[in-house]
Amino acid sequence: MDATTQQLFQHLARYLAEPLLALSIDGQIVQSCPAVERLLAREEGSSIGHPLSDLVTDSPGRLAEYLRMCGRTLAPIPGALTLRQPSGQLVACRIRGALLAPPPHPPVVVLRIIPKDGSHSPFALLNQKIAALSAEVVKRKHAEEEALRAVHARDEFLAVASHEFKTPLQSLTLQLELIGRSVSKLGTDVEQRLASKIETMKGQVDRLGALSRGLLDLTADEAGQPSILCRADLSEVVRTTVGRIAIQIARAGCELRLELEPHAFILLDVSRVDQILVNLLSNAAKYGAGKPLHISVKAEGQTVTLAVRDLGIGIAAADQARIFEKFERAVSHEHFGGLGLGLFISRQLAQAMRAVLSVSSVQGEGATFSLQFAAAPHPVAESAQ
Ligand SMILES: Nc1ncnc2c1ncn2[C@@H]1O[C@H](COP(=O)(O)OP(=O)(O)O)[C@@H](O)[C@H]1O
Ligand SMILES: [Mg+2]
Repeated sequence: MDATTQQLFQHLARYLAEPLLALSIDGQIVQSCPAVERLLAREEGSSIGHPLSDLVTDSPGRLAEYLRMCGRTLAPIPGALTLRQPSGQLVACRIRGALLAPPPHPPVVVLRIIPKDGSHSPFALLNQKIAALSAEVVKRKHAEEEALRAVHARDEFLAVASHEFKTPLQSLTLQLELIGRSVSKLGTDVEQRLASKIETMKGQVDRLGALSRGLLDLTADEAGQPSILCRADLSEVVRTTVGRIAIQIARAGCELRLELEPHAFILLDVSRVDQILVNLLSNAAKYGAGKPLHISVKAEGQTVTLAVRDLGIGIAAADQARIFEKFERAVSHEHFGGLGLGLFISRQLAQAMRAVLSVSSVQGEGATFSLQFAAAPHPVAESAQ
């Protein structure tokens, strides 16, 4: 086989994408293509050098006669043969044989092999591949639907469970309030001892309430809904929230320091700012090592920033991005309880108001969480434009 016939064979093999063999006139295989080896169930290239008669069940005499005929013409001559795979499996084929290139090129016969059952045609192979791919797609779709159903079921369960917690918790808070009042009338040292126990119980009830609210927030996907923003003084909103939860912060043993600039007007959603601030403050109280907490509202240029700063354990630089993800925590359960949802929900709530929630911290020195808003233009200035 010279270089030209070799090239010719390779072109044919590539473009026809059919099982092809190149044979010398005496029936030795000189070239093969992967499709033919698949048909023979042999390794690629392993049939080269073998006489074709070794791989078929046809009589060598008839085969030699057929190849002699093919070696005389460029017009393909039809024929038939039966391939024998190493396992003994037989593949009946139609064949077309012809001279690969005219003289003076060495006489090489190219043989197109076409299985009679059509199972090895390029279309059949393509169909098999398409069928396998379709089956895979269907399987993945089922798995995806199954996963979605599981997520749905989990969310539904969490929503129902956290909702069910609400009523007994409210009743418990009320009962504790009533017991507290009755005890305060005792006027003895028993009162002192019971009062501190009642305070501890109230703290635990607060904690349970916060945990179940976290679960409800997660499942309600309220954070994902668009906000209805109104123009309000951020400092006023902060003052109201702080007033409401000051007792809980005090219970955690933290002193609160406020630095609220007046007239910090921005576009906000009051209930979302409230929820974010409650989350940030409960974190600051939990991770703040009992040291004072600072809350500030500052207007600077075109932005207004609410910052909650503590002087507690801080957060390692490597953890500062991931703590905003669902269920991500950077502390051990042994030391601090929690679900790892507060910051995830808070960031979603912030995004719904087009605000940015970020953290800066040095481990061991405390953390500052900042909620940054674009300053709202003054309504008079707006209408004057
Ligand atoms: N003020 C803070 N100081 C130190 N670490 C904090 C602070 N706030 C949050 N973190 C870290 O971020 C994690 C995620 O916070 P969060 O989503 O509120 O979940 P949780 O408080 O339930 O763990 C916490 O587990 C903690 O590791
Ligand atoms: Mg938290």
